Amino acid sequence: MKKYKVCFIGTGWMGSTQLRKLSNFSEVEITVVVDDNTTKAEKVVKEIGLKETSVVSKLEDAIERYQFDIVWIVSPNSFHGKQSLIALRNGKHVFCEKPPATTYQDFCDQIEITTKNKELKSMVDYILFFNPMEIALKNMVRNNFFGEVHQIQVNYRHPVNIDDDKKWKLSKSIMGDALGMGINHAISVIVFLMSAQTTPVSVYATSSNTNIRGFEPDPVWNIMIKFENGATAICQGNIDIENGYDLFHNIAGSKGGFIFDSRVDMDRKIRFWNSEIEKGKWVYPFLDKISTGNKLVQSFTPKMMLPDSGDVLDHQVERAIEHFLTSVSSNKDSPLSFYESKIIGEIGWAAQLSSKYDKIVKLPLTKEDQELAKQL
Ligand SMILES: NC(=O)c1ccc[n+]([C@@H]2O[C@H](COP(=O)([O-])OP(=O)(O)OC[C@H]3O[C@@H](n4cnc5c(N)ncnc54)[C@H](O)[C@@H]3O)[C@@H](O)[C@H]2O)c1
Repeated sequence: MKKYKVCFIGTGWMGSTQLRKLSNFSEVEITVVVDDNTTKAEKVVKEIGLKETSVVSKLEDAIERYQFDIVWIVSPNSFHGKQSLIALRNGKHVFCEKPPATTYQDFCDQIEITTKNKELKSMVDYILFFNPMEIALKNMVRNNFFGEVHQIQVNYRHPVNIDDDKKWKLSKSIMGDALGMGINHAISVIVFLMSAQTTPVSVYATSSNTNIRGFEPDPVWNIMIKFENGATAICQGNIDIENGYDLFHNIAGSKGGFIFDSRVDMDRKIRFWNSEIEKGKWVYPFLDKISTGNKLVQSFTPKMMLPDSGDVLDHQVERAIEHFLTSVSSNKDSPLSFYESKIIGEIGWAAQLSSKYDKIVKLPLTKEDQELAKQL
């Protein structure tokens, strides 16, 4: 099997987990690790047992001194854009942690380069794409279990870790904005779920600052997305404070509905209804005995990994790695490539414009809004 040589950037909280997992893949060789804190990176490399791996402080040095095929980016948000563009311009495939970029120009350049150079594969790590509950839910929407979905709500309220060396998550110049810092996970879920039925056409958003932990950009967001078929999505986001991890989902359709509440006891977290099952009553699949041969219903078992599960990081990281390596080896674009996932980023830029100028922003962005997005 071909050995993919990887240049891995960023050995912090998420990076060290990914590096450990990635180094277990037999087809992968970690050629060089880039981290501006080389002492810390050397420690991580040693702990993982990567004897042949070099450590440098800059991607440019790694490119000059080593041969590799893939650049794997897990540095803080504001470096994703520039580092991915350097990598792509040097003919490397790019795995990029979310957000793809913190400037609209870098976001556009990533799309342009990968569209012109089809042989270059890319992926933005919208990790809930790999979650079993989200996959089961997407199959339900696709198979019209809920009929036509009219309303959907997915929240992301979670106090991001700003301890010690993670203080960068407070600053606009490194973190970018709160959507890129985490709320885009909820947006990605909304987009993936609704993609079977319709496409987003406009965004209205408000944002505010809690002034609690000192976030420079607004940590609180309310984002309303209108779809071509008239359906509407709402996302309530807050990266500053929350009691628990709020990933609330509420789907309401013409013949069914679904609720996931991450902050109640496990057996009551999920409930759904459908006009053909149990006489249309709300059922709790982890609690109730549901008498149906419907495979979509049967996929909900108490062992199912939920999006708020403690195992999420470990398990989904492996799936994400596998997914990207398959995209590279099969020369097929991932649905998470810079181009294919661009609507998630566009909704983020539209939300920022909407909040700043108090207006409804059409998708795709008009020429005028594109210019305004460059000034955000
Ligand atoms: N997809 C997900 O669910 C998920 C989860 C957590 C974090 N993330 C993303 O992962 C990234 C890293 O987050 P984290 O929590 O691990 O942060 P972290 O602060 O723990 O780690 C960042 C690492 O990057 C290094 N670094 C800083 N500037 C650098 C530069 N210019 N070049 C190379 N390395 C540099 C730091 O020394 C540190 O080792 C962020 O973009 C974050 O959004 C994604």
